[in-house]
Amino acid sequence: MASPFKDQSHHSLSLAKKLLPYAIYVLLPIAVIRLYLYTPSLPLISTDHLPHSREITISTSSPTPLPHISSSQEKAKETTSSCDYTRGKWVHEKLGPLYNGTTCGTIKEGQNCITHGRTDLGYLYWRWKPSKCQLPRFEPSTFLHLISNKHIAFVGDSMARNQLESLLCLLATASPPNLVYTDGEENKFRRWNFPSHNVNVSVYWSPFLVKGVEKSPNGPNYNKLYLDQVNEKWAADLGGFDMIVLSVGHWFLHPAVYFEGDDVLGCHFCPGLNHTEIEFYDVLRKAVRTTFNTIIERRGNGNGIDVVLTTFSPAHFEGEWDKNGACSKTKPYKEGEKQLEGMDAEMRQLEVEEVEAARANGEKFVGFRLEALDVTKLSLMRPDGHPGPYMNKFPFTDGVPERVQNDCVHWCLPGPIDTWNEILLEVMKKWNQGK
Ligand SMILES: *[C@@H]1O[C@H](CO)[C@@H](O)[C@H](O)[C@H]1NC(C)=O
Ligand SMILES: *[C@@H]1O[C@H](CO)[C@@H](O)[C@H](O)[C@H]1NC(C)=O
Ligand SMILES: *[C@@H]1O[C@H](CO)[C@@H](O)[C@H](O)[C@H]1NC(C)=O
Repeated sequence: MASPFKDQSHHSLSLAKKLLPYAIYVLLPIAVIRLYLYTPSLPLISTDHLPHSREITISTSSPTPLPHISSSQEKAKETTSSCDYTRGKWVHEKLGPLYNGTTCGTIKEGQNCITHGRTDLGYLYWRWKPSKCQLPRFEPSTFLHLISNKHIAFVGDSMARNQLESLLCLLATASPPNLVYTDGEENKFRRWNFPSHNVNVSVYWSPFLVKGVEKSPNGPNYNKLYLDQVNEKWAADLGGFDMIVLSVGHWFLHPAVYFEGDDVLGCHFCPGLNHTEIEFYDVLRKAVRTTFNTIIERRGNGNGIDVVLTTFSPAHFEGEWDKNGACSKTKPYKEGEKQLEGMDAEMRQLEVEEVEAARANGEKFVGFRLEALDVTKLSLMRPDGHPGPYMNKFPFTDGVPERVQNDCVHWCLPGPIDTWNEILLEVMKKWNQGK
């Protein structure tokens, strides 16, 4: 049978070579993500259930560098947006954070770094300076004005939630939101209302965007993804969204079996199952494509919808994830100090490509607008912005323990992720001007 994915290599040797760096680069971050998404109060988890994980010592080496985005793609981007926010550098900013993380009530504990005892606060005093333009400081009232009488939904994994919680804190400095819906303990589905502007902001947990069954302690040791169907947990509400911000990526690195209709397409990290190994890049691409196609199908002919895809957010594990110093840098990388390459670059590139393709598909529909919120590079430059050991409260009150859990994936709030929402606001302003 022909491979469902073009260019899929079936040579086991080259496949193993391709996969090995991902195993090293990827699996421990996953362990951390899983750790505090589901079991925030448990002690250190074992990563034994992850293939290859036992021998892993975190390596800073990345997979083979990939070609950079072609210049024609860069040109296409420049003609569609007035400012290229992807190129620039972090510069000192004495004004400091846009909100007080201590008083904003909607920050997940593990990302509330200051209240968890982080005392080096230099990471709060940086501003992203695009090379050829300015990125204005976030204006909450402008944002609220632009989404007056609208519903904006964040859909995806914990990075979507991280970005949403940043936005809520930013907006709350101008107008207090009311939490009007929550699914309970896990907080995977929540909605807030800003009565001042009749604005609804919601978050939907959907780490694959498409239909998926997450692995569980009692079920199989891998996820199941149905790549041809979106997850109706969010898609059923699509009719009520005016704007949707999508953010996925990290969960595609987990062991998984992939389905299309009733057919098994293949799997990822599934020794013991007799399925073809498939690169998760192809899978993510397909999931994003199914998502865009569904949004266009269901909303293309309606009263319009704005879609934003936040690109992949790099992790910064530079030491062992459970040792002190896993991501202990206190300053951004300087311009040119760190290149976007390897997995981070590939994830971003395929997302940007899918946005371009879907934009072309959706062109004939009035009111369908789509943009990539291309934050990968600017986030890559901020190894200092993660909770690290402060994912847990006061980790060093009794000295430095032998093992310390580190979150080098998510972002402290306030922190660099606030910049994502500053750029989001610029995208919305541009749209509002009819560009
Ligand atoms: C944040 O608010 C708390 C409580 O009101 C206050 O003690 C603290 O100084 C504030 N921090 C900043 C940076 O304004
Ligand atoms: C916001 O949600 C409420 C229900 O919680 C609904 O009555 C209202 O119409 C919604 N507003 C918008 C603009 O979606
Ligand atoms: C694995 O799949 C191949 C091709 O479908 C088949 O020929 C082979 O018998 C299968 N092996 C096992 C152990 O099921």
